[in-house]
Amino acid sequence: MTTNNPQYLIPNTRLLITGATRLTGVIGWPVGHSLSPAMHNAAFAALGLDYVYVPLPVPPTRIGEAVRGLVALGFAGANVTVPHKPAVLPLMDDLTPIARALAAVNTIIVRPDGSLLGDNTDGYGFMADLQSQIANRKSQIEQVLVLGAGGAARAIVYALAEAGTTIAVVNRTPARAAELCQTVRRALPAAVVSAHPFPDALPELAARADLIVNATSLGLHGDADALPWNPAVPFRADQVVYDLIYNVETPLLKLAAAGGAQVIDGLGMLVHQGARSFELWTGQKAPVDVMFEALRRETGNRY
Ligand code: ATR
Repeated sequence: MTTNNPQYLIPNTRLLITGATRLTGVIGWPVGHSLSPAMHNAAFAALGLDYVYVPLPVPPTRIGEAVRGLVALGFAGANVTVPHKPAVLPLMDDLTPIARALAAVNTIIVRPDGSLLGDNTDGYGFMADLQSQIANRKSQIEQVLVLGAGGAARAIVYALAEAGTTIAVVNRTPARAAELCQTVRRALPAAVVSAHPFPDALPELAARADLIVNATSLGLHGDADALPWNPAVPFRADQVVYDLIYNVETPLLKLAAAGGAQVIDGLGMLVHQGARSFELWTGQKAPVDVMFEALRRETGNRY
């Protein structure tokens, strides 16, 4: 098929599909909005790898069949996104310690013997992006304030605790924050994590935070959303404010930038979690710059 629609053109590819093409993809419901196919196909093309990455829309009632189908169809692996990350857990033959601790799988690896390994690369993606973005920072990140206690927050807190930082989790529903802290402490007994109510605890915790991470869904709709913050609490120039949201500039990042803080959106985390999945499937180092560029293209060069 030939098409002039740029969405279907992948640069530097001679022929996209051969008789030996390895399959990968993303299982989600819905999945049509995913930027991962553009990112991974650009990476495969850049390295000349005979792989393809396809969207796999799977309703919750069919998740078991779909995962078993990966093996039957000879997939190299797949990503897993909302709402299936917890549901695929019992379908795996093995889990990495982090996937087990988070009770969520975002990457499935189909091993040569047909068995399935479930991993979670979200925390890795966050840390890899954070480290690259703050490479020029003079002082270390020691105190972290995480806003939110859902699945995204859990992956971030686990990774930050593993890196040895002190973490305060603030959430609208304090019991969820307490549960998150317990989960992380169970997996990492040396973790220094504490739970606090939103928004009362913000002034004190913000004053000592080097890094503030928004892992709530507030900001997904841009200016239409409330702040996951108290606007009377100031940001400082020596703070880093990281928002996991990547589709819009969130009200939190605008406020933090106005206060002089270094702001980072979630696009880099998306790239680096994908890069890790790519490496697990192919055994090759992922072309991170190519993946960033593909996402910038997809999002209209807003980044
Ligand atoms: P995900 O798995 O993507 O992290 P989630 O589990 O739905 O999504 O978590 C969303 C997070 O945003 C939660 O921390 C949620 O707070 P609650 O645990 O109290 O629900 C937070 N959140 C969503 N809407 C919010 C709002 N209007 N005000 C404050 N926090 C909100």
